[in-house]
Amino acid sequence: MPALRKILHVVGARPNFMKVAPIMAAIDALPADTNITQLLVHTGQHYSPEMSDLFFRDLGLPQPDINLDVGSGSHGKQTAKIIEAFEGVLEAHRPDAILVVGDVNSTIACALDAAKLGIRVIHVEAGLRSFDRSMPEEINRVLTDAISDLLFTTEESGDRNLAAEGVPASRIAMVGNVMIDTLLRHRAAALSRPTLHELIPGLDLQPGGYGVMTLHRPAAVDSMEVLGPLLGALLQIARDLPLVFPVHPRTRGNIERFGLLPQGAASGILLVEPQGYLDFLNLTANARVVLTDSGGIQEETTILGVPCLTLRENTERPATITHGTNRLVGVRPEAVLAAFHELDTQRTNIERRPPLWDGSAGQRIAAKVMEWL
Ligand code: UD1
Repeated sequence: MPALRKILHVVGARPNFMKVAPIMAAIDALPADTNITQLLVHTGQHYSPEMSDLFFRDLGLPQPDINLDVGSGSHGKQTAKIIEAFEGVLEAHRPDAILVVGDVNSTIACALDAAKLGIRVIHVEAGLRSFDRSMPEEINRVLTDAISDLLFTTEESGDRNLAAEGVPASRIAMVGNVMIDTLLRHRAAALSRPTLHELIPGLDLQPGGYGVMTLHRPAAVDSMEVLGPLLGALLQIARDLPLVFPVHPRTRGNIERFGLLPQGAASGILLVEPQGYLDFLNLTANARVVLTDSGGIQEETTILGVPCLTLRENTERPATITHGTNRLVGVRPEAVLAAFHELDTQRTNIERRPPLWDGSAGQRIAAKVMEWL
């Protein structure tokens, strides 16, 4: 039997949980004589029950072995707190490799610690580029990829971007999309939930009878000059089609501070708390259209065949446009309204999905990691 090898997985923020779940499950399912042990570290970047605990429950993730409880803060403060705390974890546990996902502050902070201590870094969802350095996530992506030893990509653009940045092909493997593993695994359970009947008391949402909107990126929500007109356009759309709006805490704070949205269902924008994984999947799967600035939702709607209007000027996930239902619309009110009115509400052919977004990315990662360790 090979010597025991230890992998430490890092999660921090909401979009990390659904990416790590299928990888841990696939490594768990490897034959016992592969002798790999796994630890899960939660940095605590997201900590509210609806931003974190709900996802552990819905996804059946094991409770974290270690929680660093770093909480919110400016980028510098938050990243520094994670770097300081995670270094101690690495020194205490001395894993053979750490595995980080996505592009949040926890991703780069933990990768940086490991690289400096000579511990190998595996990055899942490597190579995505928006080429927009004003996005904090773009900085996190570029830096994490530069110090990773094994880079798993989700789409062809990722391989091309990494090659252009000089990453040797021997370190890169295109494995597909773990977020889609999670979606396919939980879709039936999500659809069997009473979400549409219970979400908003007294209002029975009908499949196809509403849209979903989400907004949380600083570029869209941190200034009154952008958020005000954008919500104005969404309010106009909501006169034709009610929009369910699970509000991220950052956005809720700004809406209140700027005094932007009328309360109550009369406006057509239906504000609800951030939803757990299964209820949100149910909501998006049954929506007529999704309007969002999220990265992950562009991918999920592509597989669900639900039209997605992305409220950003760029995307780091171009396969959702070439192989999916996504359309880049930007944040200008006229552009958002025009895109909504042109919308083809026909669901697109589900077969038109990016290569390897098939539910088996976690297994591919587990097999590669085993071989590599
Ligand atoms: C972070 C990620 C972003 C990801 C998003 C998903 C970075 C740089 N950004 O942005 O890529 O798309 O998560 O949500 O890592 N808050 C709570 N409860 C929480 C977490 C946050 O109330 O559990 C509030 C705090 O007021 C906080 C604010 O939300 O200041 C923003 O949270 P933060 O983690 O700084 O960034 P996100 O906007 O969530």
